[in-house]
Amino acid sequence: MSKVLITGGAGFIGSYVSRKLLDMGHEVVAYDAFVHYISPLKSVIKDYFELRFEGITDQVDFRRGDTRDKAHLRRVILETRPDRILHLAALPIADLSNRHSEEALTSILEGAVNVLEVIRDVDFVDRFVYISSSMIYGDFEEIPAPEDHPKRPKDIYGGTKYAGEVMTETYSRRYGIPYSIIRPSAVYGPYDVNRRVSQIFVENALLGKPITLFGGGHQALDFTFVEDTADGIIKVMFHDKALDNAFNITYGHGYTLREFADILKEHVPDLEVNVVEEEDVFRPKRGALSIEKAKKLVGYNPQVSLEEGIKRYLDVYQNLAVFDQK
Ligand SMILES: NC(=O)c1ccc[n+]([C@@H]2O[C@H](COP(=O)([O-])OP(=O)(O)OC[C@H]3O[C@@H](n4cnc5c(N)ncnc54)[C@H](O)[C@@H]3O)[C@@H](O)[C@H]2O)c1
Repeated sequence: MSKVLITGGAGFIGSYVSRKLLDMGHEVVAYDAFVHYISPLKSVIKDYFELRFEGITDQVDFRRGDTRDKAHLRRVILETRPDRILHLAALPIADLSNRHSEEALTSILEGAVNVLEVIRDVDFVDRFVYISSSMIYGDFEEIPAPEDHPKRPKDIYGGTKYAGEVMTETYSRRYGIPYSIIRPSAVYGPYDVNRRVSQIFVENALLGKPITLFGGGHQALDFTFVEDTADGIIKVMFHDKALDNAFNITYGHGYTLREFADILKEHVPDLEVNVVEEEDVFRPKRGALSIEKAKKLVGYNPQVSLEEGIKRYLDVYQNLAVFDQK
């Protein structure tokens, strides 16, 4: 059995990976600075952290710490001696990365390099798993976009995530660090708090508020249910064929925002949908990513269509008191 240290382990994706790893019998250390990107005053679910770790709080070794603080990070890694390190900690929102570019650089790039620096000096870490993003590709020139698609990020988030990939590969070549790179996209599901489009749509629908489709709602995203993302991350983390390799881990299908809204409306018929033709020209034009490589090499097989994922998301939230205010 393995011991996995997850930077950003208390976050949305990290909590699902933690639960799955514990189910499989592995040990989990969650190294997390407990950062809020969205004002807590705007958060609908105030106890999301408790909900994320319901029933497993005592099984996770939580360590408060910031990846930018290399001395502390080193101390925790030396104390806990994980054999895998999954690196999720990062400012995770593209819009914020453009407004807070300094924070994006330190949080995304410096944090990743610090982890690599510590791994360089120890001999017990068998795999560094770097979580990148589909935003490194920029506008998709080919759909579905394969891993060798040109990398032309259009914002600071995509640029710094890509720089982190380059540094991961460089440290591996120079110091022999075994790594895997994962590029998720548009992950959605219960307990996301970063006000991504999926969260806003679902919460507004349950609170009786309207939703707005910008760009006419034609923009397609490879919406991926968080359980599939967690499953893909774990498959890549442990598979020999994923060694020193990069993978798209998504559902593998592009759904437009209008399609998302239509599915939501089937469950919440009163939902008011407003359409605005204006769009953000800096947002990369995306769509489906190719997941053939992950299917072939590590047996990744996502299970949850957007129809099913929205249903599961709503099912969980319908039991939360906060949505009874409607
Ligand atoms: N959610 C998505 O759609 C998506 C898509 C592609 C890539 N990603 C990447 O996946 C990762 C996790 O995203 P998420 O959606 O779970 O976000 P999240 O905000 O829920 O989780 C990030 C966690 O990292 C922690 N953190 C941030 N900076 C830190 C630092 N410097 N030191 C220690 N901890 C720190 C935060 O406290 C938080 O718990 C990020 O790297 C993000 O860029 C997410």
